[in-house]
Amino acid sequence: MIELKNAVKKYILYENETVALDNMNLSVREGEMTAVVGTSGSGKSTLLNILGGMDRLTSGSYLFDGQEVSGLSYGEMHRFRKQNISFVFQNFALIERCTVYENLEIPLLARNEKHCRKRIMDCLERLKIADLAQKYPRHLSGGQQQRCAIGRALVTDSRLLLCDEPTGALDSRTSAEIMDLLFEANAGGRTVLIVTHDVDVAERCSRRIRIEDGKIVE
Ligand SMILES: Nc1ncnc2c1ncn2[C@@H]1O[C@H](COP(=O)(O)OP(=O)(O)OP(=O)(O)O)[C@@H](O)[C@H]1O
Ligand SMILES: [Mg+2]
Repeated sequence: MIELKNAVKKYILYENETVALDNMNLSVREGEMTAVVGTSGSGKSTLLNILGGMDRLTSGSYLFDGQEVSGLSYGEMHRFRKQNISFVFQNFALIERCTVYENLEIPLLARNEKHCRKRIMDCLERLKIADLAQKYPRHLSGGQQQRCAIGRALVTDSRLLLCDEPTGALDSRTSAEIMDLLFEANAGGRTVLIVTHDVDVAERCSRRIRIEDGKIVE
């Protein structure tokens, strides 16, 4: 499903150049559940951003189903994300002017899926935030915002689920419950990559990769 070949991502800020992905090679088969671990600044979020079509490689190749993603136009990249990707961002990135309910509705509307009230409410139930459906993100605790962000990723049936520290703001019990939902999504056939510092979470994944300085070292 995913193939990175000699993938390089450089950030240039003022005079400084950072090599966030350094000639990375990676293959992921459909249906795999991969934990991505590594120290802060090693390139984990950069990797997810590239795989999710949020950003482009500086050089090298990213194939999804054999199709080159780095070569897509802005509009094609948008369509690629809409059709294939769900993302749980490290900083949640909820839409502040939308309610919890609307935050989950957005990806469904983008995919032209209508009459999805039951689906959204079922998802909020499973995340135990159904009572917060009409609230705005700023009125939620960090953990509730995180569950909303996970709901937005779980509510569609996109093939690739990219999760950046999805349980970082949760207590261990809630975290285990949320992880069960992600494993369930994977058992249902969705391919999952999950950045985590939690050893237990990484242990439960079928595959683990460790990144250091933009390279896969293990
Ligand atoms: N937009 C940007 N502009 C410039 N440098 C960036 C940008 N985003 C990331 N970097 C740099 O790229 C490197 C990799 O960053 P990245 O966010 O991928 O790390 P990470 O492994 O996700 O870290 P953390 O565990 O702290 O989230 C870091 O050195 C970071 O400073
Ligand atoms: Mg990160």
